[in-house]
Amino acid sequence: MNETTEPPAVKLTGLTKSFGANRVVQPLDLEIRQGEFFSILGPSGCGKTTLMRMITGFETPTGGSVELDGKNVDAVSTKSRDLNMLFQSYALFPHLSVYENVAFELRVRRTAKREIDTRVREALELVRLGAFAERKPAELSGGQRQRVALARAVVGRPAVVLLDEPLGALDQKLRKEMQFELKRMQREVGITFIYVTHDQEEALTMSDRIAVMSEGRVLQVASPTEIYDEPASRFVATFIGSCNILDGVVDAQGTGVVVPGVGAVPALVPAGAVPGSGVALAIRPERMSMRAVGASATVDGVRATLVERAFLGDEWTFHVRLETGAVMTVSVPSGETAAELGSIADGAAVVLSWSAAAARVLPAEASATAPASAPATSALKGAAA
Ligand SMILES: Nc1ncnc2c1ncn2[C@@H]1O[C@H](COP(=O)(O)OP(=O)(O)O)[C@@H](O)[C@H]1O
Ligand SMILES: [Mg+2]
Repeated sequence: MNETTEPPAVKLTGLTKSFGANRVVQPLDLEIRQGEFFSILGPSGCGKTTLMRMITGFETPTGGSVELDGKNVDAVSTKSRDLNMLFQSYALFPHLSVYENVAFELRVRRTAKREIDTRVREALELVRLGAFAERKPAELSGGQRQRVALARAVVGRPAVVLLDEPLGALDQKLRKEMQFELKRMQREVGITFIYVTHDQEEALTMSDRIAVMSEGRVLQVASPTEIYDEPASRFVATFIGSCNILDGVVDAQGTGVVVPGVGAVPALVPAGAVPGSGVALAIRPERMSMRAVGASATVDGVRATLVERAFLGDEWTFHVRLETGAVMTVSVPSGETAAELGSIADGAAVVLSWSAAAARVLPAEASATAPASAPATSALKGAAA
């Protein structure tokens, strides 16, 4: 097949789902490419699982359609769709060996014995459990059981594997290891993975592309770097990584931004911005710089007061309060500059600066769907209150 004419692995058109009067997936269009590691990222309850279940056919859409590899599957049962789903609760058969757990589906399908053996051994090699074929699930660690479940999901070589928060039950260290492992495995088998998570770091680590979801809507589909550097909305900016938001107004010339109570601040205003219109400026903490100043000195930058700092090993994080009362976060990689800043006393006057390119201008949408606007990193939780 010619690559340029290859149909998407999954194509959703106007797909929507209501439970009674409650519409949990809003009409949604999405294309997932062949061989892609595609993540669906959003807070708990935003409709991720419901969306996955409509792709698999476990759930009947209220409207819209699903295509797999260019073919409409609305009338095709789950069993006959060329996909497999890995759930968070990956129940293995406790009385069967690892080998038989992985072979189970192929046996049900009456695959030839020699073929089963080849495929099961390949799948176990893929998840690096070749030496564990004869063990029972109870004789494995949580991470190993997870790998068995993954081998079972890919052994039938489906075109698409859907993974719904599969690492949720693992501890933090194992999760991190498995993130890299999953990505490696996906590359090796070349199967399209659709990965559901509420963990932004997980999505950034593994994905070719990410769809950010909120309240049943897909807000942005882009690569991890685009999602981080060019968030399309306030919700995406604050949900992915930590981000300072300043509410402002486009100036009379339409070329700058004025923040009430602060004044003109650096920002790259898109051409055609309407003077006087409200905007939100999104500035990543690592793209802001800070220096100490005498309280009466004239300064080029935004005045603030240092409220609190935390040393995180690889970086320092500072909370500063603007004269408007807004609290912002500045992070500085460890080193001489950071050490110097770290010796500034709480309550001292500082000046913040950033380049125009660092301040992304976003529409000043109502922030009802955004998470609480605390820019705090976890180490400083509560400090911004
Ligand atoms: N079978 C169902 N009946 C009624 N409401 C449901 C059902 N399944 C999910 N929901 C509701 O749909 C919304 C989205 O749920 P879900 O898709 O599980 O979200 P997520 O996976 O993102 O956490 C939630 O408000 C949930 O309560
Ligand atoms: Mg879910």
